[in-house]
Amino acid sequence: MSTNYRLLGICGSLRAAAFSKAVLSAVADLAVSKAQFDYAHIGALPHFNQDLYVEPLPTEVRHFRSQIAATDGLVISSPEYNHGMPGVLKNALDWASRPHNGSPLQAKPVLVITSSPTFTGGVRAQYQIRETLVSALARPVSHAEIVVGGVGAKIIDGRFTDEATLEFAKSGLARMFEEIDWLAKR
Ligand SMILES: Cc1cc2nc3c(=O)[nH]c(=O)nc-3n(C[C@H](O)[C@H](O)[C@H](O)COP(=O)(O)O)c2cc1C
Repeated sequence: MSTNYRLLGICGSLRAAAFSKAVLSAVADLAVSKAQFDYAHIGALPHFNQDLYVEPLPTEVRHFRSQIAATDGLVISSPEYNHGMPGVLKNALDWASRPHNGSPLQAKPVLVITSSPTFTGGVRAQYQIRETLVSALARPVSHAEIVVGGVGAKIIDGRFTDEATLEFAKSGLARMFEEIDWLAKR
């Protein structure tokens, strides 16, 4: 197993005090001895418009796509909006998804984590995210869904501290590292 994976964290919320950002940060801390994390700022991306999908691509889009191309895997932490993924996250995935056979997302392992203050933990958004990733030929990590219900109560002083979730997320990260190693050997 390599000890220096490059991972890209994407948060599906732009809210400054987002619960999903605290979750992403805690998961990045779990991987600190094995992975270097970079973060994408998806709020800077323009609305997807196929007319803009021409060279030269908008600067922010180029940067985002090159961040994905440079990573071994992605960690997406997102809330659920109206039973789906936030528009800002779908917009980002659309920008990264072209051309269909040869996009930066193609064959990238992606660990998906959703969270919500409610009991359901954003599981409906999780399914949309996974489906979009499959459409883009990415590889959602094959692991039981990591969903965090009641997330607000699990954040203390801005830090996500729920041991049971973090243990589960650790096994999701381990699956992703295995997948990255397997892909590197092909
Ligand atoms: C537009 C909107 C739609 C929402 N829809 C849902 C939903 O369908 N399911 C859910 O569990 N929470 C829903 N919520 C509540 C969010 O889970 C909650 O605001 C959460 O804190 C947002 O995530 P963040 O803290 O990472 O920004 C919604 C919130 C907003 C603003």
